[in-house]
Amino acid sequence: MKMKIRNKTAFTDAETTLEKENREVSYRAALEGIVLLENDGTLPLSPGKIALYGAGADMTIKGGTGSGEVNERRVVSVKEGLEKAGFTVTTEKWIDGYAREYRKGEEEYKAEFQRRLRSFRKDDIINIMSSPYQYPFGQPVTMKDVEESGTDTCVYVVARQAGEGADRKLERKEYSLSDEEKQNIAMCAANYEKLIVVINTGSVFDMNFLDEIEGINAVVYLAQQGMEGGRAFADILCGKVSPSAKTVDTWPKKYEDIPCAMEYSYLNGNTEEEYYREGIYVGYRYFDTYDKEPKYPFGYGLSYTTFSVKAQSAEVSDSYVKVTAEVTNTGSRPGKEIVQLYVSCPQSGMAKEYQRLAAFAKTKELARGESETAVLRFPVSDLASFREEDASFVLEAGDYILRLGTSSRDTEAAAVLVLDQEAVTEVCDHVCLRAVRVNEIPMPGSDEQENDASENGAPGFADTGEREDVDLERIHVKAEEIEKVVHSYEEPDSYSSPVTDRLLAPLSVGDLCELVVGSGMTGQKRFFEAPGAAGYTTGELLEKGIPNICLADGPAGLRLQKVSAVTRDGKVKGVEPQISVMNYLPDIIRNRMLGNPEKRPCVYQFATSFPTGTALAQSWNTALLEEVGEAVGKEMEAYGVTYWLAPGMNIHRNPLCGRNFEYYSEDPLLTGKMAAAISRGVQSRRGCFVTVKHFCCNNQEDNRNHTNANVNERALREIYLRGFRIALREGGAKSVMSCYNKVNGTYVNNSYDLLTKVLRNEWGFSGLVMTDWFATGKGLGSHSAAIEAGNDLIMPGGRGAVRELKKKVRSGELEVTALQRCSANVLRGIVESRIYQAYRKKNAAKKKDE
Ligand code: BGC
Repeated sequence: MKMKIRNKTAFTDAETTLEKENREVSYRAALEGIVLLENDGTLPLSPGKIALYGAGADMTIKGGTGSGEVNERRVVSVKEGLEKAGFTVTTEKWIDGYAREYRKGEEEYKAEFQRRLRSFRKDDIINIMSSPYQYPFGQPVTMKDVEESGTDTCVYVVARQAGEGADRKLERKEYSLSDEEKQNIAMCAANYEKLIVVINTGSVFDMNFLDEIEGINAVVYLAQQGMEGGRAFADILCGKVSPSAKTVDTWPKKYEDIPCAMEYSYLNGNTEEEYYREGIYVGYRYFDTYDKEPKYPFGYGLSYTTFSVKAQSAEVSDSYVKVTAEVTNTGSRPGKEIVQLYVSCPQSGMAKEYQRLAAFAKTKELARGESETAVLRFPVSDLASFREEDASFVLEAGDYILRLGTSSRDTEAAAVLVLDQEAVTEVCDHVCLRAVRVNEIPMPGSDEQENDASENGAPGFADTGEREDVDLERIHVKAEEIEKVVHSYEEPDSYSSPVTDRLLAPLSVGDLCELVVGSGMTGQKRFFEAPGAAGYTTGELLEKGIPNICLADGPAGLRLQKVSAVTRDGKVKGVEPQISVMNYLPDIIRNRMLGNPEKRPCVYQFATSFPTGTALAQSWNTALLEEVGEAVGKEMEAYGVTYWLAPGMNIHRNPLCGRNFEYYSEDPLLTGKMAAAISRGVQSRRGCFVTVKHFCCNNQEDNRNHTNANVNERALREIYLRGFRIALREGGAKSVMSCYNKVNGTYVNNSYDLLTKVLRNEWGFSGLVMTDWFATGKGLGSHSAAIEAGNDLIMPGGRGAVRELKKKVRSGELEVTALQRCSANVLRGIVESRIYQAYRKKNAAKKKDE
């Protein structure tokens, strides 16, 4: 039966060509994101019998929980992937037992969840999804299991779930193996000849167990690879494809090795105030500068083949540094290599990190003996440091050593840039200043640090393995040739175009208040909807020629409703929870929320789940990320989504952050390049826009709506803002989502400094800024201060927000010009959407009929 519906869903669940094509993109992305951490030659394996154990064996986690979940048609687990690749899994009994244990645990979780629900504050409803169900550790592996498995080869998949609203808890073993798992792995190590341990977590995990248990032959960081993860894993395991991924974070030997480890989030009992005392020394910047040995360094990963990397040339022209390197596959299998270029800036003047990533390149798949010239390019100004005294980005005079290599700890000095004098590249205004600076950890080599050495590691730089005993080419750079930008901080102009001006002209102030307030998943009049979309722009102005558009979540794909039942009036109701936490709601609520597929016709939207942000970044492959972006863009087109609420791009400041899996890396350059690539891909489809989030310093999930990130301006600018800047500059991202938290005492959605001075004045951003969901209101940032600050759209809005804005305009507390500016930005996205074209066509046809 055909019914009149106001969306682009299909009445059939047949697999579309797009779905098939995108599944392949997801598979290829997964293949490039799996990091081989250890291998004594055991891998690759020839298909045969395999003993498979562990939480992620058949319940492989494809992505974290929360708003970034994706409802795909189906997920390939490790078990299924292995079987499809020709392996015979011989531990069905253990795996079935695990499934029972899982379901039992889930029932207990459900009961506990419903108990918690009773005391849940209504205004904190967005955090209902915090503390996802944790997978049980698994029943003991017995001698009987081993004997019955009839093989000498074992794969043990450790899995951990995490998600928004909560950080990973050390005491609950969310970051490390439990005793049960240790015993199981030890049992497998002792009784199987070959043991491969697989880590199926969203982010860095404690690898201490490798020192405790002997007999582990290989370790694979599977990460969380989306719907085709199991298939990609199996193809790596059997050597169909050689691993080509590298770590995007430093894996510490022990959690305490991270700077200020025990002060993070809940660990010091204070989730209200977070002090970024490590300053710019995040990730490898800390480990390299403070001479700490990591377990796995940043940019590290093994392959089944070997490569040689030889610097060929280095030059500076037009203020860009260009280094070329010859990469040759010197091993016996085909494979891809990732070449990385780090720079050590002069240690005169400001103290600096030992080195920073400046550029990287991934080769194509090189056959045995084949070579490729890798080209690594970056602007000299990327090497500037932010000097707080005069709020300027500065290149200090001296030697800049270019280090080329295949991980942050395996480089060779390739050339030296010699800057004759100090060059100021940007003059800024101060932003987000605190009355008192955050007391940062002592700089290496300082007296204070000598005394503090036991806590923070010995002063001095790490031995990163590079050889400097070569005669290096010295390239002279003149400071006077480097451009200096002096920012100015006027009120930005309102966006203006003939169409938006015409639509805005007749609107009253009340209408403008409607326009800057969005709507949620339910309620309101609507021209169009995508079932399951996280929100919409207003539907209140339909009669004034302004249709609503849809905003759907990410970043691992589009979060939409897979199957929906159509009600008599043409509305749709999902028949399955579109976010896993809904599974645990009391039946009475759940049934009321869901549609009944037996009574009503159904419509379908199958989205593709891609590898999570971290997993994608591990590919270090920007072309691949563009492809993923384009694949998402095609689905946006197919389902009528205008803004994708992705990519997520906060810095991995601490491995325990519950949302790290959604984000790319500890390094701002890699983060920015990845976000830019995916943005270009999505936005290559007309009328499809990305929303980079969560701007900025959203590095803690516990108490995320209230926590205050205390950070000095240099770290803010060099680490936490830099990735966003790259995403906007190189990816042209059309929208930014401000975060929940405060920075130095001000909610970011109320921060004129961040949303206007940095975003618009300094970076020239002219797109849309929206709040995170329910991030403004009572006890949070105020709706009207958000508009004043340059936060254009309040999401998901509500009548209260509209009322407050109207009141503030009447009382003169909210300037109409600010409201107009925000309205124009919201409207711009609407008129550039495909939905607007459809709306115009429909209206024109209607007029013709009349
Ligand atoms: C998350 C955002 C998400 C929004 C809409 C919030 O809870 O922080 O990342 O886009 O919900 O679902």
